[in-house]
Amino acid sequence: MDRYCVIGNPVEHSRSPWIHTRFAALTGQALDYGRRVAPLDGFAAAVEAFRAEAAARGERAGGCNVTVPFKFDAAALAQSLSERARLAQAVNTLRFDAADGRIHGDNTDGVGLVNDIERNAGVPLAGRELLLIGAGGAAAGVLGPLLDTGVRRLVVANRTVDKAVALVRRHAALALAHGTTLEAWALGEVPGSFDVVVNATASSLAGEAVPVAAGVLRPGALAVDMMYGAAAAGFMGWARAHGAVPRDGLGMLVEQAAEAFALWRGVRPPSAEVLAELRALVDAG
Ligand code: ATR
Repeated sequence: MDRYCVIGNPVEHSRSPWIHTRFAALTGQALDYGRRVAPLDGFAAAVEAFRAEAAARGERAGGCNVTVPFKFDAAALAQSLSERARLAQAVNTLRFDAADGRIHGDNTDGVGLVNDIERNAGVPLAGRELLLIGAGGAAAGVLGPLLDTGVRRLVVANRTVDKAVALVRRHAALALAHGTTLEAWALGEVPGSFDVVVNATASSLAGEAVPVAAGVLRPGALAVDMMYGAAAAGFMGWARAHGAVPRDGLGMLVEQAAEAFALWRGVRPPSAEVLAELRALVDAG
């Protein structure tokens, strides 16, 4: 039985064990997926302990997911990085190589978001105009894969504009390669309106108002918050009130997990089916 887990702090409310256990059941994969809290200064030690405990039982640790606040520690710990993780400077998925034990780091958040928007919400991104609000770790994790879709224009808007500028600079070559116009703006100064608006800020967690003018939303625009539940409610209500189609981050959560599962197991799980199940579970409270 191969072992996996999600490591974070806090991590007790993580839905990842439930999601991966459903993926394993539906694909017939024999694996165990748990959750582990690591002390704030103890991420690498927690990974080491997880691997050592599996080995002591005669089992193999196959990898782990990494959540707040350890995605940067995970990028530093990995001995090799996927190109998208290198650009994000953050890792949400570690894979332990079966042959030599080396640690490979990837970031499946961006592909998860893209797959949720394109497949689950049915909005193809090529040729569209997209606004990404935020320039922290969550925004950095998704910008590369958003550019890979061939959006026509992508604006990164942030309260601290310097962080948006730095993020855009790091992705300039990728944007150029795709022929995408990539811009950085301060929150209150975003020019134009957009087909898709993605909220990657922690503003709703703080109970604050959506930090951009409603004019950024084209009629019928898709407005996605990367969070779900109460943390996404403010943004979703704002989007609905201004004629947009709101979407929370539950689909992104399941799709990033599906990408990690495929990376570990070489099998693509039925993510839409599991998303429908999880939606029912969350709605039921
Ligand atoms: P995460 O990993 O969730 O992205 P982070 O790296 O701390 O966390 O980034 C938080 C993001 O939310 C940043 O874009 C932050 O803006 P600043 O870079 O200006 O700090 C944004 N944010 C947090 N609280 C906010 C608020 N009240 N209004 C607007 N933006 C906010």
